[in-house]
Amino acid sequence: MYDVNLADFVVRREQLWQIAEKFRGEIEKSLNGKESSLKMLSSYLSPAIGNEQGSFLALDFGGTNVRLLEVLLQGQGRLTVQRKSLFPLRTEGVDYTAENTDSLQLFGYLAAKIREFVEPERHYRLGHTFSFPFSQSKANEAVLLVWTKEFKTCGVEGKNVTDLLSQALMAQGLSNVEPVAVLNDTVATLLAASYQYRHVTIGAICGTGHNSCYVERCGREPVIMNLESGNFSTELFTVWDQKLDQSSVYPGQQRLEKQVSAGYLGNLATLIARSVYAETQSNSAGFTGQDLADFLSAKSWKAVRKLAEERGFQLNRSECEFLIRLSRALVFRSARLAAASFCGILFHCDRDLQERHRIAVDGSLYEKMPGYRAALTEALYEIYGEKADQIQTLLMKDGSGMGAAVAAALASKRHLA
Ligand code: GLC
Repeated sequence: MYDVNLADFVVRREQLWQIAEKFRGEIEKSLNGKESSLKMLSSYLSPAIGNEQGSFLALDFGGTNVRLLEVLLQGQGRLTVQRKSLFPLRTEGVDYTAENTDSLQLFGYLAAKIREFVEPERHYRLGHTFSFPFSQSKANEAVLLVWTKEFKTCGVEGKNVTDLLSQALMAQGLSNVEPVAVLNDTVATLLAASYQYRHVTIGAICGTGHNSCYVERCGREPVIMNLESGNFSTELFTVWDQKLDQSSVYPGQQRLEKQVSAGYLGNLATLIARSVYAETQSNSAGFTGQDLADFLSAKSWKAVRKLAEERGFQLNRSECEFLIRLSRALVFRSARLAAASFCGILFHCDRDLQERHRIAVDGSLYEKMPGYRAALTEALYEIYGEKADQIQTLLMKDGSGMGAAVAAALASKRHLA
């Protein structure tokens, strides 16, 4: 009926294995200083032990909402979020993610929000989760390499965001807030998990964006490496993937992320639906990742019809049923590709799974998308067979915020040592 073949989105068992193998190869190329799609950025942090203590401020910046948290680390693997606040980067007046805003405006806005959150008389050590690719030479430095996730704010690429934040804090008179660590959200997720559990090898985000980090043990001390795995290329592209890539802000980049993350899954479904229903639906709004979750949990096709209508699509029964099948195909592919990349990391770290490994995951896909976790686990078993019993994936909700506090504790400990 439609010129969309959902079979094109199926990732077969042998392809899973090939992707994992290719992923391992990219890790090893990068470690050997060769050109690779994986940036492999050192975090200058080791996994937590669980005995770190103190109260820390966490700034979690990486999507269109920013979070501020006050986190208490109590030792013995116990940590509690004492206070939190959430604010958007797209306000009525200004969109701080757009190219008509600049670093001064963006960091000024963040500092003003921090000022509302903190008590003026108290001293705070701040961990800053900055969920973008950056390079660093120490734990409280982060030079943004390139924006991803369609961010475009001017004057941040190539700059050290810790300097930008410190200057903005000073301008607000906040000398009592001291940024001590900056880290990627995958690293934060791994840190939050390693604070509470043993054997955590991988931290990953399967949400608006997609990325993973892992513990590299080849040097004297274990170090967490941010892979920026969203930029890996499976080379298994449908015509829809190619179209999406061409219409994105950065064509050719973040190809895995464009197949895995919730943000782009919504865009893919929109692109396909617009093409399939071309004549009647030209003014339709786009679907989001959340819409796909709603389609998959809808009790009947009529519920899908209502949701699609809210997005500007007038669909009949068979079109609604197609939309559900399309959502399922995109979501399954996402989970299977993410699983293959995790196995690529394990192929590098412990090919035969001699040890146990925990994979800590944060993000809306893993947390809420119907069928996601099951599809991911199934793919791990397809690759590793029974040995996959050694792998456990776990949800690390709020990991990117809590991990910033753990990083601040680790950086302070190191400073005091
Ligand atoms: C994008 C960013 C990456 C981040 C991920 C999840 O891929 O480049 O740094 O970890 O999104 O937020």
